[in-house]
Order: sequence, then structure tokens, then C-alpha cells
Amino acid sequence: MWELDESEDPWGEAASGRNRMVSADLTADDIDVEHTLRPQTLADYCGQERIKQNLRVLIDAAKARGEALDHVIFSGPPGLGKTTLAAVVANELGANIKTTSGPAIARTGDLAAILTNLQPGDVLFIDEIHRLNHAVEEILYPAMEDFSLDIVIGKGPAARSIRLDIPRFTLVGATTRSGMLTGPLRDRFGISFRLDYYGIDDLVDIIERSARILGVGIDRESAAEIASRSRGTPRLANRLLKRVRDYAQVRGGGTITLPVTQDALTFFEIDELGLDWLDVRILETLTKTFRGRPVGLTTLASAVGEDPGTLEDVYEPYLLQCGLIVRTPQGRIATLAAFEHLGIEPPAA
Ligand SMILES: Nc1ncnc2c1ncn2[C@@H]1O[C@H](COP(=O)(O)OP(=O)(O)OP(=O)(O)O)[C@@H](O)[C@H]1O
Ligand SMILES: [Mg+2]
Repeated sequence: MWELDESEDPWGEAASGRNRMVSADLTADDIDVEHTLRPQTLADYCGQERIKQNLRVLIDAAKARGEALDHVIFSGPPGLGKTTLAAVVANELGANIKTTSGPAIARTGDLAAILTNLQPGDVLFIDEIHRLNHAVEEILYPAMEDFSLDIVIGKGPAARSIRLDIPRFTLVGATTRSGMLTGPLRDRFGISFRLDYYGIDDLVDIIERSARILGVGIDRESAAEIASRSRGTPRLANRLLKRVRDYAQVRGGGTITLPVTQDALTFFEIDELGLDWLDVRILETLTKTFRGRPVGLTTLASAVGEDPGTLEDVYEPYLLQCGLIVRTPQGRIATLAAFEHLGIEPPAA
């Protein structure tokens, strides 16, 4: 669970003790809850209407023809429901799902073993697919295209290559960095969806659904308040709901009301845009320390004490989406909106 930290000093060096709401690593408890809250069917999956309608047609058509669904890739920022959707696709197809991830497949032999163990129609889910190494990716090309596997047997002059058939399967890939996919891999996915941040109404539905499953009573206004501070992200909406529930239990007499929700979110340092203290620290660095000048990713990361990858994958997309920062070839720049949000006078032009 989190550590309570009521430190007055937002620049305190005790950052490690602070509550990481946006980028928190998943604890065992989080993972359990994510499992319970994970929708199983398209009907249960809130929002992303266009994607759901498309998938419905594609899945029904594949089932009617008795064929494996074309390979699918889901891309988008963390916590928007890519893994969930992969499981939903398998479930709607009535297929088994085998799950692995780019970094987990270290050697070509690992992938060959996975592929030869598939049953016809299985879904193979590869998370973080942009992190597959090159040699492994090369094995995947003929597997995706021709459902075959080229294996080299022996070494040196005696080596020969044999081609094995593998069952027709559906590869479902997920990535937070679609820009890092190689062209040949991208081209082999027949179906590609980019998940967008969720609107407030969809997030309210998600929060109400999660509250029902967790047995937590919550009114619509409180759900809307949590939704508006969830930065368009279901994972965060669920996480905030749990924290508000805890706060209500300890300090709010057990009932989640709008004032209790607002107090809880202030207590956990989530502001009205859903920015947490690290977002604020990023904006303060850009506006106060660098006075609106461009700052490179690594400089910014070390200034705020966060890993550059997390900054780029988790924090930046939302700050960009809110128009608080822009990316230029020279670096990241705070916009006027960022100065306004922090109540800081922008430098004279
Ligand atoms: N559309 C949705 N409807 C209801 N709940 C959702 C939806 N999308 C995501 N969730 C919830 O948010 C949680 C996080 O979703 P998920 O793990 O699928 O995200 P992800 O895109 O795979 O994230 P990452 O990039 O970090 O792997 C899930 O446990 C699920 O409960
Ligand atoms: Mg995932």
C-alpha cells in the first residue's frame, strides 16, 4: 500500500516516500484487483466504441468462416485497456490465449517452442511487442504470414534449414510505443487499433462498474469527480477509486460523498486536471528552473528524479494531450497553459 506523507514541502528531497499515483509499479494487491476488475466480453468493456464495433464484425466474420482471426495490434499509452482487450478478443473467439511479452522471449528457440505448441485457432498475446529482439522478430515473420517456421539444424557446412508448418493462430500484439515497431512487423498485422484516452462518461461507467464489483457504494457526482481526475485512463480511475474508498473508511465515516472524494484526492496530491506531484514537478522544472526554455528528455528526467522511459511513456503523453507541454527538436517546452495552471507569470516574450 502507499505511505502517508503529509510533507509541506513539494520540493522535498523525500520524493521516494511519496505516493506515486500515476506511475506506481503494480503491487500484488493491484494485480489481484486488476484481474477482478478486468472486463471479459466486448459488452463489458466500456468506451472505445469504434474499436468494439470493428472487433465485433471481424470476430463474428472469422467465427462464421471457421477461420482464425487476422493478426491484431493494439497501441496506446499505459493503462488504457490493451491487455484487457487482448483477453476479450480471445474470449469472444472462444479461443485459448497464451500470453508472453517481448522482453520474455530472449532466444529464437523460445519463440519456436511457443509457436510449435499452439493449437489451431489459439490466440498468442505478445505484450510490449516493440521490445522483441531482431532475431526473434525474423522468426515471427513467416509464422505470421505463412504459418511456418524456418529452423536451422546443425552447424557449419552441414547445417540445413527445414520448414515446419504451425497451426493457424492469431497473434495479438500490444505496444505503448507504436513508433518503435519495425515496418515489416507492423505490415504483418492485418488489424491495427490505437486506443485513445477515455472521456469522462466512459470513465464514470468504468468507476461505477468497478465499485459494484468491489462492493463500494458511490454516488454519481463522486464518480464523476474521480473520472475528471483520472487523466483519461481506466487503470488510474480504478486506482483512485480504491484510494478514495480507503480514505473514506478512515476519515470520512465510511461513505464516499463528493466532499470526501475531493478531500481524498487533495490528500493524495491529485489536482483538478489529474496531475500528480511528479507532473507538477515536471511543469515546475520547465517553468521555474528553465523559464520556458527547451529541455532535453534526459536533463528533465534527472531534474525531476524519474527514469527517462517512464517520463516519455507515462507522463509526457498526457501533458502533451492537455497542451501543457510541447515537444520540439530542441526539447520539451512548457506552454502558456502550464504557466497559467501553476499560477506563474510567464517570461516576457
Ligand atoms: N474499457 C475498459 N472498461 C473497463 N475497465 C477497463 C477498460 N480498460 C481498462 N480497464 C481496466 O484498467 C485496467 C488496466 O487495463 P490494462 O491492463 O488492459 O491496460 P494496458 O493498456 O494493457 O496497460 P499497459 O500498457 O500498462 O500494459 C484493467 O485492469 C481493467 O480493469
Ligand atoms: Mg498491458
